[in-house]
Amino acid sequence: MKKIQLLFITLISSIACLAEAENVLPAANGVQYPAGLKNWRIISSSYRTDNDTQRVILGNSIAIKASRSGRIKPWPEGSILAKLVWKNAEHPDWSSAIVPGAFVHSEIMVKDSNEYKATGGWGYARWVGDEQRPFGKDKSFSEECLACHVQVKKSDYVFTMPAKIP
Ligand code: HEC
Repeated sequence: MKKIQLLFITLISSIACLAEAENVLPAANGVQYPAGLKNWRIISSSYRTDNDTQRVILGNSIAIKASRSGRIKPWPEGSILAKLVWKNAEHPDWSSAIVPGAFVHSEIMVKDSNEYKATGGWGYARWVGDEQRPFGKDKSFSEECLACHVQVKKSDYVFTMPAKIP
């Protein structure tokens, strides 16, 4: 492929990516839905028995690098952790396989110790449902997030322990 064609394709796909992110409104505390989130790599997954949901935890490139090298106490500035949550569903052809069903919400934590000093150095955001509606009436919603995440202050407010990937 000619260089110019490649450049054009790259340009078009980055515009598409930006447009996609722009469709999602920022959270009330100003935290933006990160462009390209759907292409991020995995840090771990989790399964909640109390509310019948499953999750994947993804990271931007800074978070992935930190997670793979075990340098996560604290997570480096610029890390973004994302969690995508689905209701559990049965695989139609194999009932013992529990797979992602209806989409519940996406959530992120952005590490910026100055900007988000009041909430432990992390900016929190959640977008609800297929329409990805920002959660919370005003920016005080992050106090709710922090109230739970403070329980793991010793792990820089992060519950996820990167899964072993041999
Ligand atoms: C009732 C407790 C609770 C509240 C409230 C809560 N979280 Fe969490 N959060 C957890 C637990 C437990 C985990 C790890 C298990 C899992 O993956 O669900 C987690 C994981 C996460 C993760 C993946 C990184 C990590 O810490 O493991 C993100 C991102 C996240 N939460 C964002 C948020 C945001 C944004 C809010 C507020 C809108 C919020 N959380 C509110 C309990 C909570």
